[in-house]
Amino acid sequence: MIYVLIKHPNNLPLNTIYMNLTLPLENPKNYDLLLKKSSEIGFTMPSDIYVGCLLKTLVASKPNSRILEIGTGIGLSLSWMVEGLDQKSKLISIDNDLFLINIVKAFFKNDPRIQLICKEAGTWLKNYSGGLFDLVFADSWPGKYSEIDHVLSLIKVGGFYVIDDIIPQQNWPEGHHGNIKKLITQLEARKDFTITKIEWSTGIILMTKRN
Ligand SMILES: C[S@@+](CC[C@H](N)C(=O)[O-])C[C@H]1O[C@@H](n2cnc3c(N)ncnc32)[C@H](O)[C@@H]1O
Repeated sequence: MIYVLIKHPNNLPLNTIYMNLTLPLENPKNYDLLLKKSSEIGFTMPSDIYVGCLLKTLVASKPNSRILEIGTGIGLSLSWMVEGLDQKSKLISIDNDLFLINIVKAFFKNDPRIQLICKEAGTWLKNYSGGLFDLVFADSWPGKYSEIDHVLSLIKVGGFYVIDDIIPQQNWPEGHHGNIKKLITQLEARKDFTITKIEWSTGIILMTKRN
């Protein structure tokens, strides 16, 4: 008989592994259908399941909130955030691709808390004059690599700024490492936010606005 010794990564006894660290417990309503749609239309930029789960948890910490997503895409991260949203909260999600916005609208049309906007996000941000946000998930060029100071100014004290796709990927275009480096330097310099860089999922930066 051959015995294989399996060790906990931190050399703890195996019975201390009490969490399944691999996947969230359950996917949001609409998630599986949106994922199917994403592969049907060949959408190549869907958000990762782990960042989705984190967003759900962060959104759930903000009752009666205003949430902003920049880069609706096929609505996967949106579906996670909606799971964390209470009945009094509102969520705005923006994308400049009408084809995508129309797909996502069909899934969320009966939810009055959600506003889906088809606009160029940089222009929308410049013209925005509504209330501050409790959480911004910036998943497109504007709000992440441009308009950064403006987006951060739209977050309430105690509110979150979340971005993902920070860990290098094979398919990054030439020069993208430089964009990420510049972005991180810019975010680290913000004294009005705490910053946590998480090497998990696709690489996440989570910031909270302080007084
Ligand atoms: C990474 S994808 C978003 C994925 C999405 N979070 C999801 O889970 O499906 C980025 C999205 O940003 C949109 N986008 C790119 N540039 C934009 C701009 N200037 N204004 C608005 N949307 C933009 C793209 O159309 C794309 O759908």
